[in-house]
Amino acid sequence: MVWFWILLITNESIIMCYAIPGRIEAIKGNRVIVDYFGEKKEAINELKDLSIGDYIYAQGGYVIEKVPSDYALSVLDLWRESFFNLQKLDMSLSSSVLPRDGVDEKLINILDRLIYGGSASRKDIGYILTISDKKSLDYIYKTANFLRQKHLKNSCCVHGIIEISNQCSCACAYCGISSLNQGLRRYKMSVEEAVKVAVDAIDRYGFKALVLQSGEPADKDEFIEYCEAIIQGIRAHKAVFLCISFGEIGLRGLERLYKAGARGMLMRFETSNENLYSRLHPNKMLASRLEHIRYAIELGYLVFTGALIGLPGQTIEDIVEDIFLVRELNAEMYSFGPFIPHEASLLSKASPPDRDMVLKVLAALRFVDYKDARILVTTAFETLDPEARRRGLLAGANSVMLNITPLEYRRLYDIYPDRAWSETGVEEQIESTLTLLQSLGRAPTDLGVR
Ligand code: 5AD
Repeated sequence: MVWFWILLITNESIIMCYAIPGRIEAIKGNRVIVDYFGEKKEAINELKDLSIGDYIYAQGGYVIEKVPSDYALSVLDLWRESFFNLQKLDMSLSSSVLPRDGVDEKLINILDRLIYGGSASRKDIGYILTISDKKSLDYIYKTANFLRQKHLKNSCCVHGIIEISNQCSCACAYCGISSLNQGLRRYKMSVEEAVKVAVDAIDRYGFKALVLQSGEPADKDEFIEYCEAIIQGIRAHKAVFLCISFGEIGLRGLERLYKAGARGMLMRFETSNENLYSRLHPNKMLASRLEHIRYAIELGYLVFTGALIGLPGQTIEDIVEDIFLVRELNAEMYSFGPFIPHEASLLSKASPPDRDMVLKVLAALRFVDYKDARILVTTAFETLDPEARRRGLLAGANSVMLNITPLEYRRLYDIYPDRAWSETGVEEQIESTLTLLQSLGRAPTDLGVR
């Protein structure tokens, strides 16, 4: 069995190797070329003492830390066989020989163009999103999976998310932790608690990329200070890729947290339709959201962004624009998930989208950016469909996030009802994720490069 190479079970915990050490092949300014079993990738380097021949861990496009050669070589030895076996399995599951019997002719023409290196127009993506017959849907998902494998091979990002506070000053119409939900008990982890959860995730479970998330703060200055302390506290202990997700904290806030050591920023624009945005977000403007996203990219953050699928009043054309907007923003990772009505929100009577609409959007994201995109299977999708992770990973996606918020708080981070994994311990989530990735031939590693 290949499986136990990846899962090293120690006395008290499971350590998951989320990253394969790579060897530095070349250094050009702040960019390095890294070799992983013969594959060359590029990453951004901020370490001062790096030389050709050194071994490193990279995550999310950044070099995280240098690792001693003997340690790296022993990990690579453990990985070698499974690395190639997983690749073989993935390749066999993402064959280019796609059954075309009964598949919509126009769809075949559009997707053929992509398979041979062409691009998809807004009209093409709009057409794909209206497809509903089973054979054609299947063809869409398989083509997206084929393109993912062809261009990005079998690596899968596995990030951890810690929800440090459910306090929120916004009144978003869809969200269960909006300030309008006065029945919800609010929490804010102490700096020490948040640092401890993160350090545990790194030490005990091997996470190399963590997202820190909360509702949008009312008092931005105070909140930024609190986050600076958390980020610095984590970085003082450990090398890790840290991503912030706190809503609109202001451009100065973004600058300060970058200085403190955050290198990723997760912020969805939720919808690219300005009118819909204004209706759903009282006293907020899409332009301000986009300004944050664009400024974060300018500062050097790797940005994860996306939209909600199936919002009441959202049209297919809106979703097409959402898909093209993430590409235009040149985001690092795309996070698109279904809207799920929350009983305590203004949209409690609305319905979620169907599963195939979500899968079509994941596939469409792959179609507009087949060479680069890291596409997340969101927890919201897993809440809608227990098989979402497997289905999504077989429809163009290549990224998952595990929730490592302590259970007592996770239950209170009630953005939508019955969240998947809301009662599952971290070890169980890791085991289940690894089993799934193993069965699909995916390496639970983000080679960390574009
Ligand atoms: N259904 C699905 N996703 C939601 N979010 C907030 N409320 C809901 C809901 N009811 C998402 C938003 C936000 C992210 C943190 O959670 O897209 O960006």
